[in-house]
Amino acid sequence: MWNDLKAAHAAIKDRAIIDLFDDARADDFSVETQHMRLDYAKTNIDRATRDLLVSLAQAAGVAERRDAMFAGAKINETEGRAVLHTALRNLDGDPVIVDGIDVIRGVRGTLNAMAAYATQVRASPITDVINIGIGGSDLGPAMATQALSPYHDGPRLHFVSNVDGAHISDVLRGLDAKTTLVIVASKTFTTIETMTNAHTARAWMREHGGDPAAQFVALSTNHKKTEAFGIPQDRVFGFEDWVGGRYSMWGPIGLGLMIAIGADAFRTFLRGAQEMDRHFCAAEGVENMPLMLALVGIWHRQVCGYATRAVLPYDQRLGQLPAYLQQLEMESNGKSVGMDGQTVLVDSGPVVWGASGTNGQHAFYQLIHQGTSVIPCEFMVAACGHEPELAHHHDLLIANCLAQSEALLRGRTLEEARGKVANQFEGAELDRQAAHRVFAGNRPSTTLVYETLDPFTLGQIIALYEHRVFVEGVILGINSYDQWGVELGKELATALQPVIEGTQSADRKDGSTRGLIAYLRQYRG
Ligand code: F6P
Repeated sequence: MWNDLKAAHAAIKDRAIIDLFDDARADDFSVETQHMRLDYAKTNIDRATRDLLVSLAQAAGVAERRDAMFAGAKINETEGRAVLHTALRNLDGDPVIVDGIDVIRGVRGTLNAMAAYATQVRASPITDVINIGIGGSDLGPAMATQALSPYHDGPRLHFVSNVDGAHISDVLRGLDAKTTLVIVASKTFTTIETMTNAHTARAWMREHGGDPAAQFVALSTNHKKTEAFGIPQDRVFGFEDWVGGRYSMWGPIGLGLMIAIGADAFRTFLRGAQEMDRHFCAAEGVENMPLMLALVGIWHRQVCGYATRAVLPYDQRLGQLPAYLQQLEMESNGKSVGMDGQTVLVDSGPVVWGASGTNGQHAFYQLIHQGTSVIPCEFMVAACGHEPELAHHHDLLIANCLAQSEALLRGRTLEEARGKVANQFEGAELDRQAAHRVFAGNRPSTTLVYETLDPFTLGQIIALYEHRVFVEGVILGINSYDQWGVELGKELATALQPVIEGTQSADRKDGSTRGLIAYLRQYRG
């Protein structure tokens, strides 16, 4: 199947995408769900290639694996765990059994407890909430909190993730310890950055008249550690090991978001994700949005060989989406060993990067349009903003978003470029100047359009990307739910700490590391 796809790519790689357009293409190469449309017509995928891609997914057993995941099978095989973030938003579905127990009852109990606590905090004198966490215990809630800022009607929410003391100092400065709630968000409750920040926040609170015994909350699977830290059981919101860190904001890790927007809006966010889950399980073949988004991704990365993909939300409040997707996609699918323990024979997932439009246009789009590498772009934009009084801003935003994908598709020929500058230059200088103004075009993009960025839609969008990662992982034959690749650096940092502190010698380190340590020591005294 991979060979057929490679052959298909070799045959069409110089074809102009624009030539594929007929009256039907835009609709045929788009998928719709409630309030959302994904258009992938501006890619070099034709009907025959799409059939091959859909067959690839079938041959990889995507549907069977999907059903196994939703049913609670232990598809995270390297860790012997189920993968059930979908259960966290299963608000009115069937029971899901793991190790003989229906997990849905526990999920709903926790959700109700979170809602009761969030309501209590929102009615209390608490003015500020700090979420201390990193990776999946930070990126999702931070991204969603910014995305849903028009729905905030609770205390202000702050995020501290980096172990760099600059981060916590900047956040604590100006806060009142007596009216601040600290949420320590860590699945394992052992992550060094989070625990270091949690201890610093506790010392600050004590020193400034707050009461850590009453103003600390934990979100974790590790009850022994939360108890050892001194957080009473009734302020620990637990979850199970079948929720991966980067898939965890639907449960307790979303508590800060729930405090900011309220329990009802949080439930609407879950409903949006649940709607996407249902769509993912029910829609067939080309009607299935996560499947098609994944197949476009596979086509661009593993078949065409494009090393990166840019995520370009024309939605200022989705500014943190690229960073969130970096963890979701790169920690999930950045692997070179398959489920079977053998080296995978195709490329792993792409580098994911991006920034919100229109800002990115004035920064890195130059390379996207005229650089030597092809970068598939994933645009997204809402039909309506939250500022009706500024509708003309939104018109401009949409115009820019659509113009970029049009420019990537069409490009500008030498002849057209000459026409642009013919009144300024002539002869050889005209040729030289025109050459700089040529756009190769024929660069692929997808566009996701949605009604408005509300809690329901955000839930749908994030679940869409989660399922995309799942499908790509199944096709690559890897386990998208472990992250062994982050371990070595953690181990070495722990070993280096006494060397940096000066209590151990650097002798056994490589020459470069020894040199850097020696240089840093000059300044550290
Ligand atoms: O280092 C990677 C990682 O394990 C992520 O997968 C996870 O989201 C993050 O660290 C934080 O882990 P925890 O929630 O256990 O503190």
